[in-house]
Amino acid sequence: MYILGIESSCDETAAAVVKINTKTGEAQTLSNIISSQIEIHQKYGGVIPEIAAREHVLNVLPVIDEALVKAGLSSKQIDAIAVTKGPGLVTSLITGIESARTLAYVWNKPLIPVNHIAGHIYSDLLELKEKIIFPLVVLTVSGGHTNLVLMESHYKFKIIGETRDDAAGEAYDKGAKMLELGYPGGPEVSKRAKLFSETGQKCEVILPRPMLHNGLDFSFSGLKTALLYKLQKDPTWKNRVDEYCFAYQEAIIEILTKKTLKAAQKYQAQTIMLSGGVSANSELREYLRKAVQNDFPKLSLIMPKLAYTTDNAAMIAMAGYYANKGGVKSSWQKLKVDVNFTL
Ligand code: KG4
Ligand code: ZN
Repeated sequence: MYILGIESSCDETAAAVVKINTKTGEAQTLSNIISSQIEIHQKYGGVIPEIAAREHVLNVLPVIDEALVKAGLSSKQIDAIAVTKGPGLVTSLITGIESARTLAYVWNKPLIPVNHIAGHIYSDLLELKEKIIFPLVVLTVSGGHTNLVLMESHYKFKIIGETRDDAAGEAYDKGAKMLELGYPGGPEVSKRAKLFSETGQKCEVILPRPMLHNGLDFSFSGLKTALLYKLQKDPTWKNRVDEYCFAYQEAIIEILTKKTLKAAQKYQAQTIMLSGGVSANSELREYLRKAVQNDFPKLSLIMPKLAYTTDNAAMIAMAGYYANKGGVKSSWQKLKVDVNFTL
């Protein structure tokens, strides 16, 4: 079957067509179109909702059109429309939702509401050859969310850990701001950290790992404050930005990895998955891969292809397939945005 996915929860307007083999569950992305607003928001150092909303309105129809053309399909061949219902910015979500409702009515197609975090989780299944084995523990790390979820079957989620304050991506972005680096902060901090490790020098900056040994919840605001205090006390910090990035990233990655392994052990997971914008980070991938290999060599570790780490609509189509299989559906008459949509 062919699913058209639509995503507009933050600052990316995206549409994709995913072909799913309903016998094997194998998914092939036929198109994955993303209109990113990063350059527009960069000069403000973060997403401005009003500007994002206007851009979504301008971009949504051309992006959907392009997704169909690139997939080589007409609207008649689409079997269902999956769209992000929430969580996200209301003024952004509404454009995707209203477009999906209108197309579902005009084209007479089933409409599947998808949770954005479920979308990130299911990004791991796009173009995946192997079958996933339950129970699995998935770490989702994005700009708005950091959580550990237990899944014992498809589209059934139990949150077993979450951040009590900032998300991991937010920690990257705020840390980068303090270090006077650009937005989004993740890629920039990661690049600087790599430069430092290539020097072979010993890192002299010591930062805390808040809540490392306390359950499965996360807290990143203390780490951010610790960085701020260090910078305030160090008049030479501008000459040591790479070293600060290295220390800051090490702390984030160690916390994320150790909590994930702890969750996998506690719930006797067969599989660990990683998802969300921060999962594009090569150090995090490497650190997690090594830790799983050392501590749980029998566990299978699944990470999304790089193209599917940040917000996209292929992941929404993929999640939509399993949501629908699990009985989730809506209609153009009923579908509404839910900014606090929980898993
Ligand atoms: O999933 P996403 O595209 O949007 C949300 O749903 O929030 O995630 C965006 C976040 C930003 O905070 C960005 O700094 C972070 O992902 N990010 C990274 C990297 N690439 C993006 N963080 C660390 N390393 C990266 N390479
Ligand atoms: Zn996201």
